[in-house]
Amino acid sequence: MSTYEELRRLDLAYVFHPCTLLADHLAKGPTIFSEGKGPYLYDIQGKQYLDCRAGLFCVNVGYGDEEVAQAAYEQMRRVQFVTSFTSFASEPLIELSAKLASLLPEGLSRVLLLNSGSEVNEAAIKLARYLNALEGRPRKNKIVGRKLSYHGATYGIVALTDLERAQAAATPLPSGFLRIDAPYCYRCPYGKTYPACGVDCAWELERLIQREGPDTVAAFLGEPVMQIAGAIVPPKEYWPIIRQICDKYAVWFIADEVITGLGRTGKMFALEHWGVWPDVLTTSKAMGAGYFPVGATVFREEIYQRLLWAAPNPSLWHGFTMSGNPVGCAVALKNIEIVEERGLVGNARRMGERLLEGLKKFEELPIVGEVRGLGLFCALEAVRDKQSKEPLPESIQRAGGLVKMAMDRGLLVRSSPTRNDLAVITPPLIVNEEQIDFTLEVIGDSLQALQRQLS
Ligand SMILES: Cc1ncc(COP(=O)(O)O)c(C=O)c1O
Repeated sequence: MSTYEELRRLDLAYVFHPCTLLADHLAKGPTIFSEGKGPYLYDIQGKQYLDCRAGLFCVNVGYGDEEVAQAAYEQMRRVQFVTSFTSFASEPLIELSAKLASLLPEGLSRVLLLNSGSEVNEAAIKLARYLNALEGRPRKNKIVGRKLSYHGATYGIVALTDLERAQAAATPLPSGFLRIDAPYCYRCPYGKTYPACGVDCAWELERLIQREGPDTVAAFLGEPVMQIAGAIVPPKEYWPIIRQICDKYAVWFIADEVITGLGRTGKMFALEHWGVWPDVLTTSKAMGAGYFPVGATVFREEIYQRLLWAAPNPSLWHGFTMSGNPVGCAVALKNIEIVEERGLVGNARRMGERLLEGLKKFEELPIVGEVRGLGLFCALEAVRDKQSKEPLPESIQRAGGLVKMAMDRGLLVRSSPTRNDLAVITPPLIVNEEQIDFTLEVIGDSLQALQRQLS
């Protein structure tokens, strides 16, 4: 077994870490994890961490689950590869498609299986543009997203991801992507207050469609709960208004449930909290739960029927060698079974309530601006000044802020890609009361330490 020092040297010599600040990495070196069990990760020196990042919001059933490993092993032995192109299929591919359809309302039932969140979102966009073109509306191709959104990093979808750092390497970006403001009530882009605002940020979609011309807008794409600015949960009217506007202008509503799908918010799909359904729903992370890359773009059967009749023999060219891989499908079927049989959606709701209630108490502290969340998707926004909502000083953020302090104390939470004073807390859905209480204790201690640094 290599020592940390040996591996560190090799990492710095050979590894290129994506989405990583390269100079910072050279200075501090890698954190090397060598084992995982349940909600815990262990680094190579044997230190235990409670992983309240769930990897990257994906390890919902926890690490090292024997049943998932067994499902993958058995499928690998039976047949590890069958393409989903050219009418080929495997049993798990068909069973997983039918299973996903059974979790969604009737009619939202046509399933395209892919490998990642970026791929499933790009599929949705391509489908919208392709069908409009086939049906004689080639100008109806613009896709509307939101500021502060994250939808992926591949060349097409990165145009909708509102992160300069992500877009820098893809510039010039593909055209036809627009944005409206996010429903970020704590820092309302219009300086308004809910509910007096009338949820103006949702109505901005209608104004934008009118400005651009409804015959040029194909789809609106949004995460039900937003990630990069930390668990932004829109007010109860928001998604019904978006649904209404999309219907009025024949604009597709595409819901990016890449993080929220399969239980994270305390419902199987987050939009259930708002009682609306999209035309296209994408989901990915919890399907593979970190055991295998897998994702799905699920769209209305009516869209499929239109596609069938729009050309003599249409096909959507959005597939990859590993799309619908049988091992990935077997793993996803097992993960969904675990979510259902172990009652993880209910657990996410109960543990989420305990977590949010505990975090809310920190709002009394002078450095906590806001705590927000839904189910096991929570965030805490630290500030220098409660009144002005000024973020923590750059020096503290550069040192790693809250996230680093929690990590030192054995807790992994995720910062926003641009702010280390914003902690996003997303434990695996198997988390228990004791682990939630540990999370609260560590965050409390870290906030005290942060406060001392400020004063
Ligand atoms: C909401 C959302 N959509 C899409 C993606 C992209 O997923 P992937 O990294 O698997 O391509 C992410 C990734 O974090 C995400 O959070």
